[in-house]
Amino acid sequence: MRVPSHSIQVRLLYVSRAVGPQTTTMTTSILAQAHAHNPVHGITGVLCQGQGFFFQVIEGERSQVNALYSRICADKRHQNVELLHYEEIHERRFGQWSMALIHLSVDDPMVRLHHPDFDPYSGSGPQVMRQVMDLLESGQPIELPAA
Ligand SMILES: Cc1cc2nc3c(=O)[nH]c(=O)nc-3n(C[C@H](O)[C@H](O)[C@H](O)COP(=O)(O)O)c2cc1C
Repeated sequence: MRVPSHSIQVRLLYVSRAVGPQTTTMTTSILAQAHAHNPVHGITGVLCQGQGFFFQVIEGERSQVNALYSRICADKRHQNVELLHYEEIHERRFGQWSMALIHLSVDDPMVRLHHPDFDPYSGSGPQVMRQVMDLLESGQPIELPAA
């Protein structure tokens, strides 16, 4: 999707550690918030979760992305939120998803790459971004309907 040249658009990627188990209830609640808020603010992206971690890519207008990221950082359902990558973009990669969901399993390359001591905080931003893209292209993203 082409974006208008007058507004600065960005793509942000972070990693975080879940506080407590990543239950379906938690995921459903996060996605319901995302699906209610993101379309209104022109945000698109993908949330990868599993193995106690979240990776999330958020794209949209810079001020909207920054505001959402601040709210997400303050969310008590996760901790150690670390910004991995932030770039200005001319085209969205996740334009068709208000927030796609990918479940990370131990077999996924992102997890395997760092085996046996999987540390998602050690990857370089562009490298992790590529892995998210690969996962999205190889897997079936799940998007729950807006609540
Ligand atoms: C891992 C994770 C990802 C989230 N992603 C989004 C999102 O894409 N959009 C959104 O509106 N809220 C998202 N949230 C929820 C926000 O952190 C926040 O709870 C929500 O936006 C409501 O904020 P408010 O209570 O300040 O209105 C996410 C939370 C977590 C833990």
